[in-house]
Amino acid sequence: MFNKAFNYIKSGGNPDFDSIKALLLADEQQAEDLFDYAYKIRLQVFGKAVYLRGLIEFSSYCSNLCAYCGINASIKTDRYRLTDEQILECADIAYGFGYRTLVLQGGEDHQFRGKRITSILNMIKGKYPDIAITLSLGIHSYEDYQEWFAAGADRYLMRFESSDDSIFADLRPNTTLVRRLEALDDLRKAGFQVGTGNMVGIPGQTLDTLVNDILLLYKLYPDMIGIGPFIPHPATPLANYPHGSVFTTLKELAILRIIMPHVNLPATTALGTLSLDGQMRALQAGANVIMPNVSPESLRKLYAIYPDKAGSQEEAVATHNRVLATIARAGLEVDWGRGDSKLR
Ligand code: 5AD
Repeated sequence: MFNKAFNYIKSGGNPDFDSIKALLLADEQQAEDLFDYAYKIRLQVFGKAVYLRGLIEFSSYCSNLCAYCGINASIKTDRYRLTDEQILECADIAYGFGYRTLVLQGGEDHQFRGKRITSILNMIKGKYPDIAITLSLGIHSYEDYQEWFAAGADRYLMRFESSDDSIFADLRPNTTLVRRLEALDDLRKAGFQVGTGNMVGIPGQTLDTLVNDILLLYKLYPDMIGIGPFIPHPATPLANYPHGSVFTTLKELAILRIIMPHVNLPATTALGTLSLDGQMRALQAGANVIMPNVSPESLRKLYAIYPDKAGSQEEAVATHNRVLATIARAGLEVDWGRGDSKLR
C-alpha cells in the first residue's frame, strides 16, 4: 500500500484520498523514506535555507470559546495586553537578531482591531520598512483586511484547525468552518500571503478526517501551512484527552512538502513542546521556517494556549540561540531575508 502510494505521489500523481491515507499510515521505516524524500525536495527548492519569523504575542485577551485553547474567554487566568512601546521593543529585539519577519499574534481582542492595528503597522513599518509583517488575529471584516494590507501588512495566518465541519462546530462555538474559509478567501483577495493549517490529534479527529485536512490544504494551496499536535490544556473541557502524535505530525509535514514543494512550512512550537528534538526532526522532514518567540519573558507564561509551551520560561536571546542550534543540528542554515512565499 505504502510503496504504491509513495511512487504514485513521487511521480507527480494528483493527491487523492487513498494515497494520502496510505502515506499517513507509514510505519517507522517507511516514514524514514518519506522524511528523506521530503528533505531532498526542500533542498531542491530552498537549498539549506531556513526562514525565521519573530513572534510577538501582543494580547492574551480573547472573545472566543475554542474548547482546545488555554486562553479562551471562559478561562479564569491573568491576562495582558502589550502597549505600543512594548510591541516596538519586541520589534527592536527581533530586528536586532536579524529577523526580517515579525508575526503579530493575539486573541480576538476588542482592543486590537481596526485602526489600532493600522497604527501599530504604521509604527513598525515607519521604523523598519524592510521587515515583513504577518498578522494572526482571527476573523475581521474584509474592509479591515484591506486597510491593514494597505498599511503594510504582508501576510496573515489563520488555521482552519479541522476540515470536518462537525468537529469544528463542536470545538469552536459561535462560528463555523464556512465562515473561516470565507475569511481566508477575503485575505487572499485583499492581497495577503496566506497561511492556514490544522491540528493533529484534535479530539474527534480520525485518520480519515486528517486525510481530508491534507486534501483541503492542497485545494486551498496556501503560501504557508502551520500544523502542530494538539496538546490538552488542564483548564479546558479537553483536559483529559490525549495529545496528538509527534510521529503523525511529522508524516503530515513530509506529505505536505512532497505535494506542495514551494509552500512555507514551519517547524512549530507545539512539536518542540512535546518532543525536545521535535523541531529538528520537522526540519529534517521538510519544514523550512521557525518562529522564535520575542515576547517579553515575564508575560510568556500567560500566553498559555497549551501548557508548558516550549520557550515560555526563556528570554528572547535564549530562544534565539536555541533555534539557531536546532537549525545547525538539522544540517541547515538561516536565511536572513524576509522569506516571502515562492508561490507568488
Ligand atoms: N494544542 C495545540 N495547538 C493549539 N492551538 C491552540 N490551542 C492549542 C492546543 N491546546 C493552536 C491552534 C491555533 C494556533 C495559534 O495554536 O491551531 O491556530
